[in-house]
Amino acid sequence: MNIKKVGVIGCGLMGHGIAQVAAQGGCEVTVVETEQKFLDSGLARIDKSLAKLAEKAKEKGGSFDAAGTRARIKGTLDRKAVADCDLVVEAIIEDLEIKNKLFAELGRICKPTTIFASNTSSFPIAAMAKASGRPKQFVGLHFFNPVQLMKLVEVVRTNETSDEVFAAARAFGETCGKSPVACKDTPGFVVNRLLVPYMAEAMKMLDRGDATAQDIDTAMKLGCGYPMGPFELTDYVGLDTTLSILQGWVKAHPNEPAFQIPKALEEKVKAKKFGRKSGEGFYKWEGDKKA
Ligand code: CAA
Ligand code: NAD
Repeated sequence: MNIKKVGVIGCGLMGHGIAQVAAQGGCEVTVVETEQKFLDSGLARIDKSLAKLAEKAKEKGGSFDAAGTRARIKGTLDRKAVADCDLVVEAIIEDLEIKNKLFAELGRICKPTTIFASNTSSFPIAAMAKASGRPKQFVGLHFFNPVQLMKLVEVVRTNETSDEVFAAARAFGETCGKSPVACKDTPGFVVNRLLVPYMAEAMKMLDRGDATAQDIDTAMKLGCGYPMGPFELTDYVGLDTTLSILQGWVKAHPNEPAFQIPKALEEKVKAKKFGRKSGEGFYKWEGDKKA
């Protein structure tokens, strides 16, 4: 199972990065969006990132084939364009019903050997595997934000994932330049099971008035050596995505205190303050930088 042709569904924060690292690894990539404006903005992000990587390589006296990488990425609004891909990675919004609907459609569209993967942060892989009608050919491939810089990919197998498919998915993670870790199909896999309750706990401190967001961030950066504090990180991940993760977990595990939803998060999302991508979350943002 050699993965050469890759489909990526969704060209947002994660999808554009997954498309890019797959192309950097030599794969032919087709990335699908719902509207031209979202496709254009995802492809523009790829162009910006490739230009940055080329500039950095030049500074170090090396080279980076930005144009060759970009030429391997095609954008489209037509989902049927992924029909003959070896692997399709889903990176659409964190909504299980919408993901299940998409996988049912992909199960009808794609050739019988296509492997399916979800980049979900929190939903059971087995649910989407069932919806696709191809449970043996289904894995979680959980990349981290920003995909171009973060070295990890979690490869999640269900009880039904075949050994060959799991090995092919792991090898694909390495092709993308990532170090894969094997995970079971448990809530949040490894990283988010630890990280999201930590982010939520920081927001509960804000709900109680224990400290300001800025002071909590400074404390965690200087006290623990983390590159970002929990509020900057939530802005980076997206408050809407973080809320969707917690809502899914609360529904499935109502008695788990670590998954309870902070008021500060609900209020910000209600006010459409989604973080870096909308220009404001716990902080104000100008493009990619904190204002
Ligand atoms: N492509 C190419 N280059 C990029 C880039 C991209 N997408 N993003 C940033 N860069 C470049 C920057 O331009 C910068 O270049 P210069 O040195 O020339 O200025 C360089 O990379 C370093 O970036 P920054 O200066 O912005 O800052 P940094 O050194 O702090 O590194 C970071 C940025 C790697 C994001 C670091 O802050 C970090 O590790 N933060 C934590 C991220 C994290 O925890 N991610 C996981 C989130 S959870 C998740 O993803 C799972 C989930 O399901 C929710
Ligand atoms: P995002 O909102 O930035 O991007 C989602 C994109 O999917 C949007 O551009 C939207 O137009 C598109 N989309 C929605 N429905 C679609 C469909 N049916 N077909 C094609 N495109 C569709 O979200 P994101 O942050 O990139 O998250 C994507 C997935 O990755 C989610 O499951 C999320 O939980 C997961 N994830 C997010 C992060 C993070 O830090 N944001 C990290 C790891 C995993």
